[in-house]
Amino acid sequence: MKKNIAVLAGDGIGPEVIREARKVLDAIAKKYNHEFIYHEADTGAMAIDLHGDPLPEATLKTCKESDAVLFGAIGDPKYDNNPDAKVRPEQGLLKLRKELQLFANLRPVMAFDSILHLSPLREERIKGADFIIYRELTGGIYFGEKKEDDGSGTASDLMSYHDFEIERIAKLAFEAAQNRKKKLTLIDKANVLASSRLWRKVVQKMASDYPDVTLDYLFVDNAAMQVILNPAQFDVVLTSNMFGDIISDEASTISGSLGLLPSASVGNGHSMFEPIHGSYPQAKGKDIANPMAAILSAAMMLEHWGLYDEAQEIKRAIDNCLQNNYATVDINPDSAKKCSEVGTFIVNFIFKN
Ligand code: IPM
Ligand code: MG
Repeated sequence: MKKNIAVLAGDGIGPEVIREARKVLDAIAKKYNHEFIYHEADTGAMAIDLHGDPLPEATLKTCKESDAVLFGAIGDPKYDNNPDAKVRPEQGLLKLRKELQLFANLRPVMAFDSILHLSPLREERIKGADFIIYRELTGGIYFGEKKEDDGSGTASDLMSYHDFEIERIAKLAFEAAQNRKKKLTLIDKANVLASSRLWRKVVQKMASDYPDVTLDYLFVDNAAMQVILNPAQFDVVLTSNMFGDIISDEASTISGSLGLLPSASVGNGHSMFEPIHGSYPQAKGKDIANPMAAILSAAMMLEHWGLYDEAQEIKRAIDNCLQNNYATVDINPDSAKKCSEVGTFIVNFIFKN
């Protein structure tokens, strides 16, 4: 298989973890006789520094012309603490999601048996947790009309949804549930928010098309608690943009490290794969970041192309690392391996097996 991949390494640890993901993809290409062609492009704070724009036209073009986007991370502390910044790295990511119509963000959450003890949560609570969050990604409060404070002391963000925006992601979530444990949980705030009541109405109506899927609902505040108390109850979680953002970071505590969680964003043809961790500026350039989330994101890309054996092989390699405690400092503080060493270990596993 021949594929063109837009590589947007971005800021902070992005370039380091993406380098390892590419090493692993190259190993897969060699072993299984594929051809992956990489097209690097600038995004985030580094693109603001270079071009004054977190998503330059050339980058967008590269993404649109490629078969998929492999994304590292964006963000820089110099913007985080400056609410008056006119242009922010995050705008680049939001624009990219919108332009590529990536309306569904898939975030799998797993408890890896060999590192259960690393989770801040009690082992017996998280054992067996294995679910996937379907987060709406191109609508809701992230993209509603905004009014910045103009000195009057008020500002607002509009949370609005159209039924079609809910339907198209709900369809993917129902289908995913059919292929998993056949349970779908809609997380909303329908006791307070009109937009959430629309979510319920639309999803409820669709449920009859999926009689084999059990549908249930949780208010987001209760869901935030349930994710910690009893994460094994979930199979497929469906939710809006902002609730999904919050719940997915919370859920990452289950796996023991944010450095383990990949994501895929899909929509009307385009697709993007990125670790859910951010740019982690404190670790930048130190070769200590965990590349596993980026490598697992690459595996999700292969799965998206139907390359299931190849993706499985990467997951086995990651399992093997975890079982042997061959891992970066977030997972193995006592004898930590470097980001690049973990990548190489995974590559060697792939060639040996
Ligand atoms: C995420 C991130 C982004 C989001 C930021 C960087 C804009 O937190 O992908 O979860 O809020 O969507
Ligand atoms: Mg987030």
